[in-house]
Amino acid sequence: MVKSVLSERKTFHPSELERRELPPAAGAAVRTLANEIAVTVGPSRAIATTLGDPELLEHIETRYTELPEDVHHAMRAPATAAGVTVIGRLPLGDTELGQTPMDWRQAAAWAGEPGRTSSSFALDITMLLLARCAGEPFGWQGQQGGRLVNNIVPTPGHEREQSGASSTALLSPHTEDAFHPLRANLLMLGCLRNPDLVGTTVSSVRRVELTAAQRDRLSRRELPILPDVSYGTGFPNQPSPPVATLGRDQGQLTLRFDPAYTPLDDAGPEFRSAYDHLAEELERVCITAALAPGELLLVDNDVVVHGRVPFTPRYNGTDRWLKRVNIRLAQRHRDASEAAETGYGQRVVAPFHTIRGNRR
Ligand SMILES: [Fe+2]
Repeated sequence: MVKSVLSERKTFHPSELERRELPPAAGAAVRTLANEIAVTVGPSRAIATTLGDPELLEHIETRYTELPEDVHHAMRAPATAAGVTVIGRLPLGDTELGQTPMDWRQAAAWAGEPGRTSSSFALDITMLLLARCAGEPFGWQGQQGGRLVNNIVPTPGHEREQSGASSTALLSPHTEDAFHPLRANLLMLGCLRNPDLVGTTVSSVRRVELTAAQRDRLSRRELPILPDVSYGTGFPNQPSPPVATLGRDQGQLTLRFDPAYTPLDDAGPEFRSAYDHLAEELERVCITAALAPGELLLVDNDVVVHGRVPFTPRYNGTDRWLKRVNIRLAQRHRDASEAAETGYGQRVVAPFHTIRGNRR
């Protein structure tokens, strides 16, 4: 069971967030290029289902370099110990979105409907262009059908689960895809709609206070982390290797943390006490960002855990709607011991890696 979760909070701490302004001309340039590509390739159901169409990806790979230097500069990894950056903002009007879909399947289907008046497909391309400026966008075969851009919307029947489809439950702080050795280095969340200013919570391991003994204990491989419910169920029956909660990259602390999917009751008392202390510290240093439409949140997934405060879904087409992209950074290093992990059979969809490989 989850013992350490954030208490509900709706306090915002904008001054603690690193903010980067995207000049209006730069934001407009991204949307114009994305619209151009959207008109050239589609939309079609086949392309919008996964966004893995080779022609679409080729356009993104060849043209993201044309974007203004301001865009590339804004999309670099978060630069402060907080490990998170708000980038504002893309030009975006509410009426161009159409209705918020009810789930990720509907979002993908609607994005591929040529007659539907919604910029969802062009915004998928916008997100891929921006993510490609930051690093290498990728998806997961087992998540949202392998789509390279995930849609995060509250979904009927999933209100209380620990996944992005939930709403009334607090989404407790976690590393994205903590169970997998190929988890993202950066997460990009693009806000399309957030009428109730629902906050995304972020806590950096580089701001917590731990004793040397606690650090040492949490750096040992003690417990496994299982895949979250968005990948399905049945994983507790698979072999599950223990992983380290804390790591280091270039001498600085990194974090791999997902208490909702960690069998904490199996831990020894010393580990459990250190883990609980870490959870309390992550709560202490937690900051909340309520994204506005057109704003992007870049989250350093090696440094920061993220969550979301509870909210009441509307289910009337005006709900909170985010687009999410996983990003790999070539310069990042993870502990060598992770290379032996199988990731519970979950496979990445990494077409940009292949494109770049073919060009070398
Ligand atoms: Fe998440």
